[in-house]
Amino acid sequence: MRAWLAIAMVLAACDAPAEPIAIAPAIDPSLEPWSDGWIDAHAPQYLDDPRVRREALEASLTNRENLYSATRLAAYGRERSGWDVLPVWSPRVRRIDVEVAQAMSRGETPIVDAHVAPLWDGARPTTHEAWVALGERVFFELPLRTEPFWDRAIRDAEYGASIGIERAPDGSVPGLVLTRDVEGRTGVGITCALCHSARDASGALIAGRARRSLDYGRARIDFYEARGAAIDPRARERWESWGPGRADVLEDVADLPIAIPDLWGLRHQRLLTQAGTLRHETPIALAIRQETQYVQANHHQTRPPRELMWALVTYLESLEAPAAPAYVGATRDRERGALVFARECGRCHSNAVGSGDLVPIDEIGTDAELATGRARGTGGYRPAPLVRVADAAPYLHHGAVPTLESLLDPARTEPGHRFGMALEDDDRTLLLAYLRSR
Ligand code: HEC
Ligand code: HEC
Repeated sequence: MRAWLAIAMVLAACDAPAEPIAIAPAIDPSLEPWSDGWIDAHAPQYLDDPRVRREALEASLTNRENLYSATRLAAYGRERSGWDVLPVWSPRVRRIDVEVAQAMSRGETPIVDAHVAPLWDGARPTTHEAWVALGERVFFELPLRTEPFWDRAIRDAEYGASIGIERAPDGSVPGLVLTRDVEGRTGVGITCALCHSARDASGALIAGRARRSLDYGRARIDFYEARGAAIDPRARERWESWGPGRADVLEDVADLPIAIPDLWGLRHQRLLTQAGTLRHETPIALAIRQETQYVQANHHQTRPPRELMWALVTYLESLEAPAAPAYVGATRDRERGALVFARECGRCHSNAVGSGDLVPIDEIGTDAELATGRARGTGGYRPAPLVRVADAAPYLHHGAVPTLESLLDPARTEPGHRFGMALEDDDRTLLLAYLRSR
């Protein structure tokens, strides 16, 4: 009884009202939603007002029952307990530029010590451009955590290329950094750019493009094999099943590799993640996603400075796809293709980037595991955005369909998404050509 009382008192203390806090100014209703100015106006709300953060979290969760939501409802935005009271970590990092990469291929490891300045100097940017510029650094440099699997891929460029550790035209290795972990050891850290930047056909590095060459499972197998460690056969089978371009990023124990998406035109998407786990009504929803992703990635040891999360979000919301390829053929045919699309596809792929409202799993009929799973399930999938869709193969949330032709092929064996399968040959050709120009 007494023990129970003690616990109750601790809980009560945790929930005691916090110090009065600054109330952030309301958003000026004359600002155009999703304009840069409108996005910027949310910064003080997210940065300075814990109650706004908590409300924004709650408003953003599509299904409060899944693990993604439950974890965050328990620990986020509690002001005096949970993740709010974690120490803030602003790491020191070195980009893996061509010099660092060369040093590492000679077997050296440049040490990241206290002489390397922290990634952020602690000053809040004051313009939209400065937020975006800081956000770009976060995207490429702020490590989610250190991982031992990538060392060899930096030292041996040819091996690295075989598992998707791409080199930018300037010889640097985007997505990996050297960092000093909380214990003061230098290690290789992974950043957003590891999965969300990639070279295009011309060799240029494109931020936001999914790294469809990245073989996260292979990197693990090779790492343990090189050390002569025994690999549990089930783990091996699992890692082999991921293949390039897919990663299991769920906080669940079930194994469910998901295709890495392109991050383009996010500001047009009202649902985030393929199962639509999050409603994206304001940029604060995305800031909370990113803040909690960092906390989870480093196993709840630290939290990132919120200014860096806001910078990251300002940058993410600014990412647009490279220009669409020119339509091959007559303008009239493109218009006819667009009409076929509007008729067959437009009721779901309805917004500016070709995404739209959640489609219940019974209606879409694709592999249900992610949609109905405990981890992030919502009961359905969000229509995949169709920006530069020709370059986004393989298709669907688990990358199970290799080409656009096979997606529309009535003989396809992969279940679900039975749309556009009964088209006349002519309409199919026009639709495919139209999709390739999006
Ligand atoms: C190991 C690879 C990996 C890393 C590293 C990674 N992501 Fe992702 N990201 C994914 C995968 C896979 C998904 C799809 C998840 C889903 O749909 O449930 C995803 C989804 C997203 C989405 C949702 C996109 C959409 O269309 O709904 C955003 C936004 C995003 N990531 C941003 C980031 C940012 C910012 C970082 C760095 C902090 C990051 N990711 C790091 C693999 C990664
Ligand atoms: C009933 C709603 C609905 C209709 C109609 C529909 N789609 Fe989809 N589409 C979806 C959903 C939901 C997904 C994601 C399913 C998944 O990942 O399991 C999707 C995924 C896709 C993808 C995969 C993109 C990627 O990057 O993985 C393509 C391509 C696509 N649809 C094209 C089309 C075309 C072309 C049509 C018309 C012939 C069409 N869709 C009709 C809902 C629809």
